[in-house]
Amino acid sequence: MAENGERASFSGKIGFVLATSASAVGLGNLWRFPYETSHYGGGIFVLIYVVLAFTFGISLILMETSFGRRTGKSCVAAFSGFAKKYRFIGYLAAIIPMLIVPYYCVIGGWVLKWFFESVTGNLGTLAEDGGGYWWDIVTGSTDSGFFGPSLWFLIFAALCIVCIIIGVDKGIEKLSKILMPLLLVMIVGIMVYELTLPGIADGISFYLNPNLDALGPDTFLGAVGQIFWSLSIAMGILITYGSYTKKDVDLTESAVMVGVIDTVVAVMAGMMIVPVAFMFGFGDSNGMGLMFEALPQVFMSMPAGNVVAPLFYLLVIFAALTSAVSLAETCASVFNDGTRLDRKRSSGVTAVLILVVGLFCALSFDNGPLSFSIPLDQGVGLLGVLDSVTNSIMMPIAAILTCLFVGYVVKTTYLEEEIELSGEFKFKPVFRVMVKYLAPVFLTMILVFGILDLVGVSLW
Ligand code: PHE
Repeated sequence: MAENGERASFSGKIGFVLATSASAVGLGNLWRFPYETSHYGGGIFVLIYVVLAFTFGISLILMETSFGRRTGKSCVAAFSGFAKKYRFIGYLAAIIPMLIVPYYCVIGGWVLKWFFESVTGNLGTLAEDGGGYWWDIVTGSTDSGFFGPSLWFLIFAALCIVCIIIGVDKGIEKLSKILMPLLLVMIVGIMVYELTLPGIADGISFYLNPNLDALGPDTFLGAVGQIFWSLSIAMGILITYGSYTKKDVDLTESAVMVGVIDTVVAVMAGMMIVPVAFMFGFGDSNGMGLMFEALPQVFMSMPAGNVVAPLFYLLVIFAALTSAVSLAETCASVFNDGTRLDRKRSSGVTAVLILVVGLFCALSFDNGPLSFSIPLDQGVGLLGVLDSVTNSIMMPIAAILTCLFVGYVVKTTYLEEEIELSGEFKFKPVFRVMVKYLAPVFLTMILVFGILDLVGVSLW
């Protein structure tokens, strides 16, 4: 999106909200939120997630977008414009998408595979042995052999790379105006069908009733990490998006809209997956595979499931692709801004990064061929390591530093003036307290807890 020379811009508030939502709504909502919810005890996680998303999440969206618009620059340049010594904050944030996009493409590949199997009439295979098929696929223990897990990753990565090289983001934006609402309609339809299943009530209660026994510091760690991931915060992306926004766009309203849209989609996707997963007895033991294991069971039981399943997976592929492209675009523009590489070469470097790191992710599950010496492995290889390290360490650090920079170096008035350009800023006092005190303190606690958790020390 970032052209050399003149700065591209969104058409207005709707353009900004749509583009940002298309980037935000993706596998974070459909794949990650449901399994995190299941893992962290159901309703209590949903409650904490929603409260934090609407307070802390939306404040950080507003902070990043207004900072981007005020400076008119993307991530690294926005910080280094004040003094070279602050450049590292921008670099820290900019590295995060580079670590996420390769494994994002691996998960996108799983969705492609699920689409392919369901469209070729093999829905039954996906639902086989209570969902164990997913583990067979990711570990390469099916007929497709050792290197099988990489095939679908390579196809998804190729799609993403082609998109950034030929620059079809405008076309994607247009398509997403139709396909995203369609995805929502499908989620609601599937949810309504599930309500008719006998035995779903306990699952719904697990999803909606907060169980205080399941509450611990790790619930907050999980929720904050998920908020970063799903709202695309602390990765420099929203700074860049802010810089494309015109001065008359109401930033507060836009931030609220993006936060609400993303959260509504996540909570609905959770409602579609978590109760049935609970009902089918997946519990919290399956983690990352939840969406791939539980939904085929539903489609199998559904009238016309053979048609609904491929359509659903196709829409998920689209939602995942828009997010993957925005992640890859960000990486390419960081290479473009930070080196002498031109746009084409920067895209090429991004492609190599996705392919090399992604292959390590795809082939390091369990005893996969590249699983050697992956530290902190919990069976999900490099993918799990990158997910934990970015979520529990890098994103909190990037967010703490950005809050401190905004709160104490440039001062919050710098952003408040920008936000007030397009209307009254009603939440100013809340915003100030959040950015200067609440968020840094809270995030520091989360960071300490995240580090202890990663090295296996439990405080609870
Ligand atoms: N928020 C996206 C999702 O939920 C992932 C993403 C992160 C996209 C960062 C762009 C930037 O899938």
